[in-house]
Amino acid sequence: MVPKTVVPAIFSRYREEIDQELLRATRGPDLSLYTMVHYQLGWVDATGAEVNADRGKAIRPTLCLLMCEALGGTIDRAVPSAAGLELLHNFSLIHDDVMDGDETRRHRPTVWSIWGQAQAIDAGDLLHVLAMLNVLGSNRDGEDAELCRDAAEVMARGCRLVTEGQHLDLEFESRPSVTVDQYVGMIERKSAALISVAFEIAAIFSGNVPGVRMVCETYGSLLGTAFQIRDDMLGIWGDPAVTGKPVGADIRKRKKTLPVIHAFEKATDQDRGRLTAIYSNEAEDPDPVAVSAILDRAGSYAFSEEYMRTYLQKASTSAAQLPISEWGRQNLEEVALYMVGRTS
Ligand code: IPE
Ligand code: IPE
Ligand code: MG
Ligand code: MG
Repeated sequence: MVPKTVVPAIFSRYREEIDQELLRATRGPDLSLYTMVHYQLGWVDATGAEVNADRGKAIRPTLCLLMCEALGGTIDRAVPSAAGLELLHNFSLIHDDVMDGDETRRHRPTVWSIWGQAQAIDAGDLLHVLAMLNVLGSNRDGEDAELCRDAAEVMARGCRLVTEGQHLDLEFESRPSVTVDQYVGMIERKSAALISVAFEIAAIFSGNVPGVRMVCETYGSLLGTAFQIRDDMLGIWGDPAVTGKPVGADIRKRKKTLPVIHAFEKATDQDRGRLTAIYSNEAEDPDPVAVSAILDRAGSYAFSEEYMRTYLQKASTSAAQLPISEWGRQNLEEVALYMVGRTS
């Protein structure tokens, strides 16, 4: 299994439909609140003028629609929920950038760094509400009432996990040490939960069989965990010109990501002493260059890569239990490899 860095072709199969639905879902009165939302989605600049900026990878709705087809369903009933999930994801990103104090995302200034933190909270809240409304509004012809209710509940539960995860992520910043298990428990919530939601919603709109829903949930959680480990590696070793996010920011914020936890456990006594001194010096933020040199010497990149692969493997074992087409299996595998091999 060789991770892929090139975006799989399947992404373009759904993008137009997802974007149309996002556009429809975010129409609103002439308020700069909506400019912020459209800015976050990459359609306009800070003045509201149309631009073609980075709109994000749309991984969650793509996974949702792909799984829907793989399970033998049709995508039209799932599109509003898939787009709702992308809205929910963008809500979490706007608030995440406030929490993390990050000034750059998708190669542009973050919403809070343009409009301020208070307005960014509003823009995030609006996206959260629009997301839920879109899932509930999926029931356009009145036939899918029960499925929409199920999808809305799955979304709300996912959002609860994201909030718990974000809380732990921040709390870990000031803890002197965090275990790998605690880290995994945190990323399963803050990131893997929405990948899980993507698959479970797909299962809802393609038969709503409880056993299939359960496997989809597990598969998404395992794949989403691998995805976040990759994200944490990119936060240290990624190229900001490609990721569109600041490199070193996680280290400066004392984020207890997997590579850092590994180095704290496995670095030589001398390096562990250095690391402890750097992280306990409250007068200065940790220096990303000094910390990544220690991580490199401790083999934390290779460890994280290997650990991420174990989750990818578990995810693939779980996917094997799903009644999906060969076409679906191949495409899901390709997307999974992209999620762990991506450079952005
Ligand atoms: C970023 O998610 C936040 C994480 C959960 C890792 P993505 O990497 O999917 O972000 P975009 O939407 O493509 O920018
Ligand atoms: C990812 O948070 C999870 C959420 C946004 C809810 P991170 O802080 O790890 O993600 P990036 O690296 O800023 O995208
Ligand atoms: Mg964060
Ligand atoms: Mg962040």
